[in-house]
Amino acid sequence: MDGNGRWAVNRGLPRIEGHRRGVNVVKDIVTECRRIGVKYLTLYAFSSENWSRPEKEVSFLMRLLKLFLLKEKRTMMKNNIRFNVIGRYKELPAFVQKELTKAMKETSGNKGMVLSLALNYGGRIEIVDAVRRIVSDVLSSGSGMAPENAAQAVNEDLLSDYMYTGGMPDPDLLIRTSGELRVSNFLLWQIAYSEFYVTQTLWPDFTAASLHEALEAYRKRDRRFGGI
Ligand code: FPP
Repeated sequence: MDGNGRWAVNRGLPRIEGHRRGVNVVKDIVTECRRIGVKYLTLYAFSSENWSRPEKEVSFLMRLLKLFLLKEKRTMMKNNIRFNVIGRYKELPAFVQKELTKAMKETSGNKGMVLSLALNYGGRIEIVDAVRRIVSDVLSSGSGMAPENAAQAVNEDLLSDYMYTGGMPDPDLLIRTSGELRVSNFLLWQIAYSEFYVTQTLWPDFTAASLHEALEAYRKRDRRFGGI
């Protein structure tokens, strides 16, 4: 959801105003995705690198997140949306963690769509966390597996299951706003065959119509997954 800061600065406003406006766009896009039957929507809200921003901006984002959860939980229940978090969210401030855990628990039975927020998320760290969990599970399983057999048991499916996104399909489409042409450590493992769509539109200006433009472009792609 790139471009909040630039949107605000272009208008002579403080950067946080861009984030405030960005939350309204989150609501609109979640609603539109649910309406048209998207099953999984994952939004990159806070990267593990974003801690380097000014303390005031970080704490504003955390408070915004809490408010979003308090306000939108009811909408998620009404629209049958399951709320999910990917990332090391246990390193977020306790007051945010509390709301995240509550929202995940309360919406856990919803089946219409999965809305995942990537929070304190980094793609490389996710791979490190997955490998750590695999090693730890093997060592604590007491299976007495020979090392070469344990090594052979590691394959792409297993690694996928151990990612934060375990059980979710890989993204079909990745939309990047504000014209940046880089991946920025997002879902590195999962986007191996995702289609990319880059728009110059800044996130606060992104609308349901912008989403449909992206979907239209996606529809025209010829996905070959390495085949011909
Ligand atoms: C990137 O734009 C945006 C972020 C780091 C924060 C995104 C957060 C929100 C939209 C609000 C919180 C989310 C929810 C779901 C409540 P930027 O600040 O890097 O903009 P710039 O590239 O123009 O500086």
